[in-house]
Amino acid sequence: MSKSAPKTLLSGVKPTGRPHIGNYFGAMKQFVELQNSGDYQCYLFLADYHALNLIQNADEMRKLTVELALDYLAIGLDPKKAVIFKQSDISAHTELAWIFDTIVTMPYLERAHAYKDAEAKNKEINVGTFNYPVLMAADILLYDTDVVPVGADQKQHVEYARDIALKFNHIFMGAKVDGLNRYDGIFKLPEPLIMKDVAVVPGIDGRKMSKSYDNTIPLFASREEITKAVMGIVTDSGGADSNGMPSNVYNIHKLFKTEAELKSLYDANKGKYKALKEALIEDIDAFIKPMRERRAKLAMDEEAVLDILKEGAERAKGKADEKLLAVKRLIGVI
Ligand code: ADP
Ligand code: TRP
Repeated sequence: MSKSAPKTLLSGVKPTGRPHIGNYFGAMKQFVELQNSGDYQCYLFLADYHALNLIQNADEMRKLTVELALDYLAIGLDPKKAVIFKQSDISAHTELAWIFDTIVTMPYLERAHAYKDAEAKNKEINVGTFNYPVLMAADILLYDTDVVPVGADQKQHVEYARDIALKFNHIFMGAKVDGLNRYDGIFKLPEPLIMKDVAVVPGIDGRKMSKSYDNTIPLFASREEITKAVMGIVTDSGGADSNGMPSNVYNIHKLFKTEAELKSLYDANKGKYKALKEALIEDIDAFIKPMRERRAKLAMDEEAVLDILKEGAERAKGKADEKLLAVKRLIGVI
């Protein structure tokens, strides 16, 4: 570990359903590696208030929250090393989001990809969805976060957090927006941390793997589920895959094996899509099995999981409340 104070790392995941291997390789895996590196003070939280935009049923929300905590613990997050908590337990997040709402403009939020996508689909957009980047900025800025490990699709949200930090620092502290003084002010500017080679994990249809496309391989999938998903991977024997190399199978396979390891397998099995898929099933199952078993064990004691979240909230609250108090002084409400 370096001699300087450890940097702060923060990230969140919405409890909206079973994670898939895209979530794992794009985000969750990094949490574990970074936690274990010892270089960071880690805050990893369950973004239940962000999920409320989608999950509007109490039983479902409770269930999905515990499920996600189990996922976190099963992949190797350790409450002794990282602060693991639930966003809604720390009211400073929503309170700071309101304060930011008063300095963020509507045209600026209208440029957010997530909002534009929803609008393009003619969806009815609630204010929570519109304000999503503002709450996320509060999540990040409350903890003096240095780095935010996320998938590539969340990069814009981290940029929003930076912009909002600069604007607040400027309005309430006269901090310079550019030049050497840009880091002046109460809020630190966070950086996104995006793993380049797996920035976008493809789904079984070759598009980005996403819950909303129904093209996922669940992270804790049973052997049967893995088989079903892999057998469903789209291959194209007449077109793009005509060199005997099923690109959708290969692109998923390379998450589990090095390209050198795969070369001999794919060379020896040109055009034999079934054999290649069977090899992929083996490799995915070998990878998932230990995590799947750990998760099943943890799931037997739900109280222990809730206790971990409670303890994490106590630790996060100290830091968040201190920051919010300083903000409240700056805006003049105390
Ligand atoms: P989904 O698209 O399935 O709804 P989320 O939006 O809940 O996934 O994403 C949770 C986290 O996982 C984010 O950090 C996101 O960037 C990352 N992620 C999601 N899908 C992928 C993917 N296909 N490849 C890489 N990272 C991903
Ligand atoms: N928007 C993130 C996602 O969909 C979840 C999230 C909420 C988050 N608050 C955050 C991620 C703060 C990083 C930091 O994946």
